Amino acid sequence: MSFQYQAVALNGSPHEGFGNTSQILAMLKEQLAEEGFNLEEIFLNQQQIEYCTGCGVCIDKGACWIRDDHKGVVKKLLEADAVILASPVYFRHVTAQMKTFLDRSLGYGHRPRGTWKPGLAVSVSAGWGETEVAHYLAQVLGVYGAFAVGQLTAIAVGPGAFWGKEAVEARASDLARDLARAVKEGRRYPPTDMDLDYWHFIGGLIKENRDFMQADYEHWQKLGILDSFETFIGQSRSPATGSPEMRENWLKGLMARQQGGTGEAPQAAAANPGNPGNPGPPQTVREMMESMPGALNREAAAGLNVTYQFEVSGDENFTAHLHIEDGTATFQEGPAPQPDVIVRTPADVWLAISRRELNGAAAFMTGKFKVEGDLGLLMKLNALFGE
Ligand SMILES: Cc1cc2nc3c(=O)[nH]c(=O)nc-3n(C[C@H](O)[C@H](O)[C@H](O)COP(=O)(O)O)c2cc1C
Repeated sequence: MSFQYQAVALNGSPHEGFGNTSQILAMLKEQLAEEGFNLEEIFLNQQQIEYCTGCGVCIDKGACWIRDDHKGVVKKLLEADAVILASPVYFRHVTAQMKTFLDRSLGYGHRPRGTWKPGLAVSVSAGWGETEVAHYLAQVLGVYGAFAVGQLTAIAVGPGAFWGKEAVEARASDLARDLARAVKEGRRYPPTDMDLDYWHFIGGLIKENRDFMQADYEHWQKLGILDSFETFIGQSRSPATGSPEMRENWLKGLMARQQGGTGEAPQAAAANPGNPGNPGPPQTVREMMESMPGALNREAAAGLNVTYQFEVSGDENFTAHLHIEDGTATFQEGPAPQPDVIVRTPADVWLAISRRELNGAAAFMTGKFKVEGDLGLLMKLNALFGE
């Protein structure tokens, strides 16, 4: 049988060819063959791949110095039309074989390729952790210039003992068809928050550590990403509204609907079209913080009883705190009696983070703002007040 396309699947299971991961890949292979794809399954267990030594040579010089099978496997991934990463769950994560392979791919992970080849993430467990692992593998696909068309998960207690085997087979067929269509049509999916966050974070690191990350820096410069991330991902933001008139009419309609009216704007708004009841996005950190109680995600805040204290400096100079309890948040001026976490930040930094112009994690790691207390609560802010 001759095939028009090449797909490569990395299988991290030591059960080469007969394990549950292999059985799922066989389901994909059958449908992919009908779509004109040859699926090559690479068993990492059969490859001689040493542990990463953490020397950093790959991000400085551009290549790993260890001579083993890693490079050959990566080459196959980079040359394939479609890429599948598959691993059973071992202690809530991928297997050591898969992790060892991925660790050695660090250099590739810092250097986006812009190829956007369609891929799949596959994971099987005995009942705990397969969605987490598939999600992780889906994120990792980007390292090889791919993106996840979907995630295929299954639970199997014992060899071949899949829960709902027919459903697994049906899902495998659907995803194989989706994968094939994405390749044939050159499909791209919209960027995800993870894509944007990850590449902004890596870009920030590379810019700030240019001397150490020389190879990365040159790669980013060559692709023009340091200047325009939008150009690199080949997608840009569309304007929020077509025109100021359209936005104003939209706002008027929205307000009227909320007041049970006919769509006519209320008097105050009509009299003041420049400010039709909506103050627009916050222009200062204080405004932004004052609006936070209204933006609280009640589900994420359920059961929380915490106080965030913010000490803002620079363009604005104030201390305030935000108390979250019983699914509601209150903003108050001044320090809190017993804050759980204190964020000390220049106003422009916090404003840029809240507008997503600056990656929060990267800003923290590079010391643009400081935190005292429970760092985990800082990480929670996005879930509590993000979109
Ligand atoms: C060392 C080890 C760790 C495991 N850890 C988990 C686990 O955390 N959660 C789970 O549901 N199954 C776990 N399993 C079960 C495997 O994920 C499950 O048997 C899977 O179907 C094996 O796929 P394979 O046949 O392709 O290797 C573990 C198995 C082994 C050998």
